[in-house]
Amino acid sequence: MSESELSSGSEPRRALTPSGVGPTTEDLGPTRASRHVGVEPILSARNLTKYYPLSSGVIRHTVGHVKAVDGVSFDLFPGETLGIVGESGCGKSTLGRLLVSLEKPTSGSIIFQGQDITTLRGSQMRRLRRDIQIVFQDPYTSLDPRKTVGDIIAEPFKIHPEVVPAGRRQARVKELLELVGLNPEHINRYPHEFSGGQRQRIGIARGIALNPKVLVCDEPVSALDVSVQAQVVNLLVRLQKDLNLAYIFVAHDLSVVRHISDRVGVMYLGRFMEMGDEDQIYDRSTHPYTQALMSAVPVPDPEARDKRELIVLHGDVPSPANPPSACRFHTRCWRAHEDCSVKVPELLPRDDGAGGHDSACLYAEVFSKASEDITAADQVG
Ligand SMILES: Nc1ncnc2c1ncn2[C@@H]1O[C@H](COP(=O)(O)OP(=O)(O)O)[C@@H](O)[C@H]1O
Ligand code: SF4
Ligand SMILES: [Mg+2]
Repeated sequence: MSESELSSGSEPRRALTPSGVGPTTEDLGPTRASRHVGVEPILSARNLTKYYPLSSGVIRHTVGHVKAVDGVSFDLFPGETLGIVGESGCGKSTLGRLLVSLEKPTSGSIIFQGQDITTLRGSQMRRLRRDIQIVFQDPYTSLDPRKTVGDIIAEPFKIHPEVVPAGRRQARVKELLELVGLNPEHINRYPHEFSGGQRQRIGIARGIALNPKVLVCDEPVSALDVSVQAQVVNLLVRLQKDLNLAYIFVAHDLSVVRHISDRVGVMYLGRFMEMGDEDQIYDRSTHPYTQALMSAVPVPDPEARDKRELIVLHGDVPSPANPPSACRFHTRCWRAHEDCSVKVPELLPRDDGAGGHDSACLYAEVFSKASEDITAADQVG
């Protein structure tokens, strides 16, 4: 049975009230933290999907689709960082590429400053591409080894010559090098002459060259030594303040994400399972998938570490070409009930014991109250 066939079994979308249940509405969008009430998001996604065709046979015919992103909605507010976490293959990079228009969505919309950008073409699209930029994971492969650092950072000016006049570009590149903590006199050096951390600084300089409003950082520190990661994260924090940038920060290291993020979204098989303020996700998670991820985060305090139980998930992540029905996590959830494979859990504001935040678990409220004492019987593996 497909999920669309099950749609009659999905939950009505409700606003959160003090009792945790409010009026049903189809158009709530994701929940807002109180600090965002009255502030317009700079970037939003609504029901965004990206399906890649799967082909087979001699005459390559489509036999199915990899549902890399499958119904994602969120708001990003000016100057904030939305962290995105989730296991490898859950669709984080695909979502990042959709946001910077490197990929076309299969359906859904991306709204930048109030305008649906999925319908833009030509000069409008070119203009928009200035405002949403990306920094890639691997500083070793994302920089052309045959080009000097100066040419790499100046590349965006070729496509957007209006941003910096030709005569001022060299000076601007030097400014950018200084801004990211590199020596401007190294403008004529090649990528191989720099360390991994320095190369990522070059990638960041290229990312901010056009004065974007949103920077998508796709695992920007994952390929770096731990000692260098903090320096690059601190650079991103400083640039965000100085340039009022909004970040989508993708990473699999939950500690790094907590450090940099105002809000965090947890992805599983192309969808958000939970989304909320950093403390709501890390301290008051209501979704069993998030709770399992969080249980593996290193805790510095030995007393807290001793009290904590590791939740080990059984089995592999199912194929995104054939995701489990209804709650996609039900095949690995240690708390699944019978209706979890029938009733689609919407990403809704749910009681977390100290207010509420968005969670796509039918039993979120129960777990938020019980999460303090996950018993030995709940531990898997
Ligand atoms: N160009 C593509 N063609 C087909 N499948 C793809 C393509 N890009 C990504 N995928 C698939 O989409 C899913 C999500 O991938 P990705 O977005 O890279 O995940 P993540 O960044 O979270 O590791 C994976 O199953 C991956 O194999
Ligand atoms: S809806 Fe059911 S299967 Fe899904 S996370 Fe909640 S308890 Fe687990
Ligand atoms: Mg990725």
